[in-house]
Amino acid sequence: MKIAIAGTGYVGLVTGVCLAEHGHEVTCVDVDEEKIRLMESGVSPIYEPGLEELMVKNKARLKYTTDYKSAYRGSQVIFIGVGTPEKKDGSANLSYVYRVAEQIAEIIEYDCVVVVKSTVPIGTNDKVESLIRANVKEGLQINVASNPEFLSQGTAVKDTLHASRIVIGTENEITANILKEMYKDFDAPILITNRRSAEMVKYASNDFLALKISYVNEIANLCEMVGADIDDVTEGMGFDSRIGNKFLNAGIGYGGSCFPKDTKALHWLANFYDHELKTIKAAIEVNENQKFKLIKKAKKYYESFENINVAVLGLTFKPGTDDLREAPSLVNIPLLLEDGAKIKAWDPIGINNFKKMYIDNITYCDNIEDTLADTDICFIFTEWEEVRQLKPTDFKNLMRKPIVLDGRNCFKTSEFICSNVTYESIGRQAVYK
Ligand code: UDX
Repeated sequence: MKIAIAGTGYVGLVTGVCLAEHGHEVTCVDVDEEKIRLMESGVSPIYEPGLEELMVKNKARLKYTTDYKSAYRGSQVIFIGVGTPEKKDGSANLSYVYRVAEQIAEIIEYDCVVVVKSTVPIGTNDKVESLIRANVKEGLQINVASNPEFLSQGTAVKDTLHASRIVIGTENEITANILKEMYKDFDAPILITNRRSAEMVKYASNDFLALKISYVNEIANLCEMVGADIDDVTEGMGFDSRIGNKFLNAGIGYGGSCFPKDTKALHWLANFYDHELKTIKAAIEVNENQKFKLIKKAKKYYESFENINVAVLGLTFKPGTDDLREAPSLVNIPLLLEDGAKIKAWDPIGINNFKKMYIDNITYCDNIEDTLADTDICFIFTEWEEVRQLKPTDFKNLMRKPIVLDGRNCFKTSEFICSNVTYESIGRQAVYK
């Protein structure tokens, strides 16, 4: 099938490359010429395991261009995979989606299916279809379908090729059949719903996961107060298959491009209908407070950080990605800097992105040993494997004052008993030196 994809971010590019892997002819469109040049030379503009290999392998079926006209013309399916960033009021900014819809209407000469892959508020697909139909050449049959993505950064290729489910929102049988045919070689169950339900599946899924994390974080905070251990508690909960044993890791809060944005967008949408989503509101509030957990703990040791040498391990919102969006490091590091801390930071792939913001006042290290050397406290914001591999003796031998505040529960607390290291984590009892 001939397919065009508007937007080459995590969603658009991964979708395009995976469709090419299954034999489709795909043209990826972006406004950024630099990105296009990179992709043409076989380089992925985003860090995503396995993506570049598939770009090279399927080179013959993949094109990259800024020329949307040639890309959309003649395509049987056009995906909209552009960003829907959060606006100041928490609602989703749909201007990029509508812009692409207008461009499609302006250029299309044959019947085609337009698929909205971007995460969009309920009812947006209807608006995209109206917009296109109002502006397209007379007599053309353009149908719009919702097809949300469920990929996680760091495992996006696997999550697309072996998706948990493919949800197609359309009331039009011909459209459903075209998209079923397009996805026939994908290893995933296909669910056909109406467009608004498909849009809602995406928000309801992401918001449920965000809620699950905030719930666990609240229980974790209580565990600290009552002398329980969140790891044992979640292990005990996870045996119940109705709860499941995944996504129960306590920490300093969720980040990334989806959960923070999608919780706020659904909350905003409910408000628009004069309704309050109380659970989602709570999930957002809990997460905002959770990001300050380590700083609050740190105040026990240092009233002020003036001239305190601080080691930061991990900058990205989770391991396996160079993405910093809504990462806890972004709220904590400015607070530490403001308070006079001297920061050394390490991250295997997030430093370049972080440097764009704080280049001057942080020492970036390319290994953990240098980061920890002669520091007075260590903050762990991301559970990179290299961090998990550390031993209490590493902190003890390298740091001037071995105080470790672990925001991702990378270690068992028992490892630190009698280690001469002070170790605090989330939802578990502190171990004092
Ligand atoms: C998420 C959804 O998982 C994915 O299905 C959706 O399509 C996009 O949003 P992603 O943002 O890539 O994917 O990351 P994810 O692995 O879900 O983690 C999000 C955040 O939650 C991270 O900051 C992570 O550290 C945090 N998290 C996750 C926890 O704090 N505890 C957990 O148990 C799981």
